[in-house]
Amino acid sequence: MKINSTLGIIGYPIGHSVSPRFQQAGLDHLAVDHQYLPYEVPPDLVADFVASLRSDPARGINVTVPHKEAVMPFLDEIDEWAAEAGAVNTIVNRGGRLVGYNTDGYGFLRALRESAGLDPAGKRALILGAGGSARGVVQALLRAGVAELVIANRTLERAAALADLAANRDVPARAVELNALATDGVPRETDLIVNCTSLGMHHGPDESASPMAAARIPPTALVYDLVYNPMLTPLLREAHSVGAPTLGGISMLVYQGAASFELWLERRAPVSVMMEAAMAAMRERETQVP
Ligand SMILES: NC(=O)c1ccc[n+]([C@@H]2O[C@H](COP(=O)([O-])OP(=O)(O)OC[C@H]3O[C@@H](n4cnc5c(N)ncnc54)[C@H](OP(=O)(O)O)[C@@H]3O)[C@@H](O)[C@H]2O)c1
Repeated sequence: MKINSTLGIIGYPIGHSVSPRFQQAGLDHLAVDHQYLPYEVPPDLVADFVASLRSDPARGINVTVPHKEAVMPFLDEIDEWAAEAGAVNTIVNRGGRLVGYNTDGYGFLRALRESAGLDPAGKRALILGAGGSARGVVQALLRAGVAELVIANRTLERAAALADLAANRDVPARAVELNALATDGVPRETDLIVNCTSLGMHHGPDESASPMAAARIPPTALVYDLVYNPMLTPLLREAHSVGAPTLGGISMLVYQGAASFELWLERRAPVSVMMEAAMAAMRERETQVP
C-alpha cells in the first residue's frame, strides 16, 4: 500500500475523518498544488505504507487511531513532544528521512488559549479519562504550568499512572474513579474540566452518556470536550444548563492539523479557512445523521 498524493492521513477506519476537508481547504486557499487524501491502512500494512513515504513527492502524513504508536518504530527521528507522549500524529519526509511529531498537545493548548481565552498556568484542572488523548492533555497542561490536577477515569490504575506523571514534575495530582465524581463531586475551585473519554462520541461506546452530570459542574469552570462529533455533546449540554463556559473539540482538531500543515509546507496555515471548512463538514455530517 503506497501514498499516491503528497499529503494525507492514515487510520483504520478513516471514513469518519474531517481532516481531508479542512486540510485540502487550506491547501486550495494558498493555491498550493498538493492533494491531501485519506488512507485506510490495516495494521499489517503500516510498515509498508510508512516506508513508501520516503519517496518523492510525499511530504508527509497525519496519523490517527489506531496507528499513532505503531508508526514509531519505522521512523528515523522522533521529536521531544512525540517521544514524551509515546505517540506520533504527524510524519514529515525530509529528503527521505522520516521525522515523527505530535501536534495534539499544541492544538489542545492553542484552542484553550485562543478559542476559550484561558491560560492554564496556575489553574486547577480536572481531566476525565486516561487514554491516549488524556496523556497528551496532561503533558501539555504540565508544560503550560498547571497548578493542580485531578484525573478521573473508569479504570483507576490508568488514572494513577497519569497522576504519577504529574507528581514527577512536582505538580499535586490525584487519581479518582470516574463514577466517584457523581457522589464525591468536584472541588468548586476547579477552573477547567477536560473530557478525554470517548463518552458522548458518535459511534463511540455510549453516545448519549455524559461523563459528568450538570449538578456536579461548577458554573465557573470552563468545560472543554475533546469529542467533536457531535459538536454539541451530552457533556456540553450539561455544562450549558448550569451556565458554565464551554469549548468543543473542533478547534483543537483544526489547530493540531494546522501545526502539521506548517511542518510539511514551512508556511503559515490559513487557520480561519480551515476552521470554516471543518465546521461546514461537521454541519453537513450532522444533518445526515438519522
Ligand atoms: N478534538 C481533537 O482533536 C481530539 C484529539 C484526540 C482525541 N479526541 C477525542 O477524544 C476521545 C478519546 O480519545 P483517545 O484517543 O484518548 O481514546 P482512548 O485512548 O481509547 O481512551 C478512551 C478513554 O475513554 C474511556 N472510556 C471508554 N469507554 C468508556 C465508558 N463506557 N465509560 C467510561 N469511560 C470510558 C476510557 O476509560 P478506560 O481507561 O477505563 O478504558 C479512556 O479513558 C475520542 O472521542 C476522540 O475522538 C479528540
